[in-house]
Amino acid sequence: MSDRVTAPSVRAMKSGGQKVVCVTAYDAIFGRLADAAGVDLILVGDSVGNTVMGQPNMLGVSLEDIAHHTQAVARGVKRALLVADLPFGSYQESPAQAVRSAVTLVKAGAKAVKLEGEFVEAIQAIRKAGIPVMGHVGMTPQSVHSYGGFKVQGQGREAQSVLNAAKAVDEAGAFAIVLELIPAVLANEITSAVSSPTIGIGAGRGCDGEIQIIYDILGFSVRQYRHTKPYVKGGELMGEALIHYVSEVRERAFPTEEQAI
Ligand code: KIV
Repeated sequence: MSDRVTAPSVRAMKSGGQKVVCVTAYDAIFGRLADAAGVDLILVGDSVGNTVMGQPNMLGVSLEDIAHHTQAVARGVKRALLVADLPFGSYQESPAQAVRSAVTLVKAGAKAVKLEGEFVEAIQAIRKAGIPVMGHVGMTPQSVHSYGGFKVQGQGREAQSVLNAAKAVDEAGAFAIVLELIPAVLANEITSAVSSPTIGIGAGRGCDGEIQIIYDILGFSVRQYRHTKPYVKGGELMGEALIHYVSEVRERAFPTEEQAI
């Protein structure tokens, strides 16, 4: 468990038949917890917009926001591969813009970056700069307005275009590809068709790995989605602890002599 995970070692996990375990994190505390639990890849996702910053989606997240959270997570991570998301507007303009943005995130502590969609030239340019790239196809949240909401993609005739996008991203050299909110049969077909490991979220059981939003699996998220599973009622537990703290301070039960300096 102690060897540092790298982009090439994640890629090699597919042929080794090893599941790639991934989770998001946005600060040093949760980065440290995920790393100590043995997670292989930690993503500083642009989901920081809705999960941490209270925004309705991720479109308002800036490159500076991701760099700031990447610096924090990097301080907690020893073994896992730290990947930072290229946020909306930081790579779509040109491959040169994509390289500049990726360099900013690597300087902040990321060992690889992730971008959404079929931006083949951007992927190639970032790789040429020596930075590994993770792809992301299916329901790509930065395109929420074109879907009219966070909706399942790749159903019926749309399946072929998601498959084509995955193949293009794979051929461009992505070391792994996130498949988000697509039917399991399509995810299985993509997994067989591409050489890089597929990392599912709402994409069934057949992907080479899985990624989840850390607050969903720890039970902090208010909304419960079908594709996730809270392993602990984190929000409830911490809420109870805080209520306890409030009442003890009010009742002068805390601090006691034990906490006095
Ligand atoms: O931003 C994010 O957290 C993501 C994951 C859902 C893959 O892109």
